[in-house]
Amino acid sequence: MPGAPARRLELLLGGGAQLPHHYVARIRIQARRKPVESIINHFPNHLELTKKDLIVKNIKRYRKELEKERANSGDKQPAYDSNYAYIDFLPTTFTLPGDYNLFTEEFRKSPSSVWIMKPTDKARGIGIFIINKLQQIKKWSRDNKMQWSYANCKDTYVISRYIDNPLLIGSKKFDLRLYVLVTSWRPLIAYKHSQGFARFCTVKYTTDVGELDNSFMHLTNVSIQKYGEDYNETNGGKWSLKNLILYLQATRGKQVTSKLLDEIDSICVHSLRAVQNLMISDRHCFECYGYDIIVDADLRPWLIEVNASPSLSATTASDRLMKVAVVGSGADREGVVGRRELMEKIAY
Ligand SMILES: Nc1ncnc2c1ncn2[C@@H]1O[C@H](COP(=O)(O)OP(=O)(O)O)[C@@H](O)[C@H]1O
Ligand SMILES: [Mg+2]
Repeated sequence: MPGAPARRLELLLGGGAQLPHHYVARIRIQARRKPVESIINHFPNHLELTKKDLIVKNIKRYRKELEKERANSGDKQPAYDSNYAYIDFLPTTFTLPGDYNLFTEEFRKSPSSVWIMKPTDKARGIGIFIINKLQQIKKWSRDNKMQWSYANCKDTYVISRYIDNPLLIGSKKFDLRLYVLVTSWRPLIAYKHSQGFARFCTVKYTTDVGELDNSFMHLTNVSIQKYGEDYNETNGGKWSLKNLILYLQATRGKQVTSKLLDEIDSICVHSLRAVQNLMISDRHCFECYGYDIIVDADLRPWLIEVNASPSLSATTASDRLMKVAVVGSGADREGVVGRRELMEKIAY
């Protein structure tokens, strides 16, 4: 581009080839005749958004704040913003062991409900299991000799209501992986990447409780599905976001599809807003977050988690192209692909 400063991007390797998602440890941008500026691809306290228990705590607090604001302003509407998108996008979640009593109270209200237990400090589906009886948690804690002493317990879990009516395609469950780039927290400047994908399970979905421990049916993580007998090496068990949108438009209609996409944008914005004031907004930092979102059979999106270091390893050629584009947009902040400033969608 004429007149634009020449930029030299230098990727300093962090995790090594065996840990591709850690490979962008640091990026140095050198403008012509200007000193080298270091830019780091994380904000110092990103865990407020990306740790499974902290994000839940922060969103619960944020929701209460919004409800209070509305009550004070005399508006008795439920927690919907004027953009019609809701902020009730997290499945009911408790942190264990701290919230055990609250959880059991909730569980007893609907004893046939299904819940998913996830360690707060793990990823790639590790340590996750699904339960439908209180007895199972008790047994699990005994088997694992967990110290349910609140003061000392380091192994914390979140337990979330299981979305048991996911939208199925070809009878299989999937979730979405979307990329959101934050370049500043104050003011909030965030872009949702135009590329993303749906990750499919390899086994047809049923609500049969006898199948609750079948990870190939319930957990969409590629790190699990790639070991499934029916894993498709050619497409990596993935659809591009673009193809998913085309499919939804064709099968459900354009209007509901665009409502779904607006609601997903709204989830991204509200989740960022929920932690905005907690984040250290350093101009030398940016961060690309990987959003996991499940769409249910009523086309309602649910936020499952936000990842700080979304996997950048590629399973197929098109996956590689997409991830190169994601990394490129993170590295060159002037050239964000699919530029869309989410702030514009905030309406309160
Ligand atoms: N509340 C839920 N309802 C339905 N499926 C879920 C729920 N939470 C997680 N899952 C499934 O489990 C997978 C892993 O959960 P996630 O929270 O993303 O943990 P991880 O950090 O291990 O990826 C998700 O990608 C999704 O397929
Ligand atoms: Mg995940």
